[in-house]
Amino acid sequence: MNIEKAYNIWANQYDTNKNRTRDLDKKSTIDTLSKLDFENVLELGCGTGKNTSWLLKKSKRIIGLDFSQEMLNKAKAKISDKRVSFRKADLNKDWETENDFTDLITCSLTLEHIKDLNHIFHQANLKLRKNGIFFISELHPFMQYSGSKAKYETENGTYELEVYTHHISEYIDNAKNNNLKLVEVNEWFDQNEKNEIPRLISFVFKK
Ligand SMILES: C[S@@+](CC[C@H](N)C(=O)[O-])C[C@H]1O[C@@H](n2cnc3c(N)ncnc32)[C@H](O)[C@@H]1O
Repeated sequence: MNIEKAYNIWANQYDTNKNRTRDLDKKSTIDTLSKLDFENVLELGCGTGKNTSWLLKKSKRIIGLDFSQEMLNKAKAKISDKRVSFRKADLNKDWETENDFTDLITCSLTLEHIKDLNHIFHQANLKLRKNGIFFISELHPFMQYSGSKAKYETENGTYELEVYTHHISEYIDNAKNNNLKLVEVNEWFDQNEKNEIPRLISFVFKK
């Protein structure tokens, strides 16, 4: 099954099932971005809009891109606000928004499904205004090395999605090659258990 179809199925249980990665991502997003305010936000892989409602408190306009119609349907059912536009789009293609328009791009738990990170950073650089921020929060590569990947339960057992491992250096090198500077990196642990492998890594890059 391809990734888009897998998320169309996952959509029904994405918000309600136990999912420590999803919940910790919400914390990493809020903790990192709460000190800032934004005019325009571009949310990559917005899914069911888990982070969109909070981002809306901090900004004037949000465009959420995602290729799963069912995930987008959940987001639209939750958030009907004229300031938010949810659009069906494949991030592996060129993003159909204007250039130089956004102060913040966020991307949570989505890049593990994207093979070519250079394309993402290239598009991000085009869409960001000068001094704009690109916030990324992803499953930590240490978790990926130890076999963890996006998955959900079905009647026939656990379904694991197609994923790509991205090393820390890959994020940093691709950002640098596309004129984005690393300004912050954080590792996020389950209940602050710092003796365990960190579950998530987050980056803040600046144009
Ligand atoms: C784990 S969910 C994360 C959703 C949301 N960001 C969150 O934190 O809850 C990953 C999302 O990325 C989307 N996605 C994955 N690959 C994509 C692609 N190539 N283009 C657009 N969306 C994609 C999926 O449809 C899904 O909604």
